[in-house]
Amino acid sequence: MGNPTDRPPSDEPAFGPRTTTVPRRRVLILMGAGALAAGGGLGVLLEACAGPPIPVELDFDPATLAPDTPTEVPFTFTVGGGTVQGSTWLVRQPGGDIVAFDPRCTHALCVYSWSAADGQFKCHCHDGAFAIDGSVLHGPPPRPLDRFPLKLVGDVIEVDVPSGFATPRESL
Ligand code: FES
Repeated sequence: MGNPTDRPPSDEPAFGPRTTTVPRRRVLILMGAGALAAGGGLGVLLEACAGPPIPVELDFDPATLAPDTPTEVPFTFTVGGGTVQGSTWLVRQPGGDIVAFDPRCTHALCVYSWSAADGQFKCHCHDGAFAIDGSVLHGPPPRPLDRFPLKLVGDVIEVDVPSGFATPRESL
């Protein structure tokens, strides 16, 4: 039996800086988080972990929503003792169904607005633009506009707002 202090020969110095190996899985997680942050998706990921959505009734008569005329409907809700101001863009689709867009640009959560003259949603933070169906027309937004799940209860529109929702940024 050899001396317990005997060590196999190594190129690594006995004292000095050592290389730390980061497990591959951890590297992939870090890379994924970086990509999400770069695309503005980290907030969405955090929202997904925040808790169940908050049902919000809109003070709006859906019968007044004309096709091709996106309409912003404001709402307010309380969460954790605080009041949150928000809104949703309602659009009546060609088939008659109504969709409710999240009012935050998918790039960096800025507010956007409908330009009737151009027939598109415009975000002025980085000149992003979306079509009336929410798809990206140009600019840095990494994905179409997000939608709030919507249901009609009689003639009342109810949308499910993510619990981590925050008022959109006016600018960066
Ligand atoms: S936040 Fe809308 S284009 Fe950047």
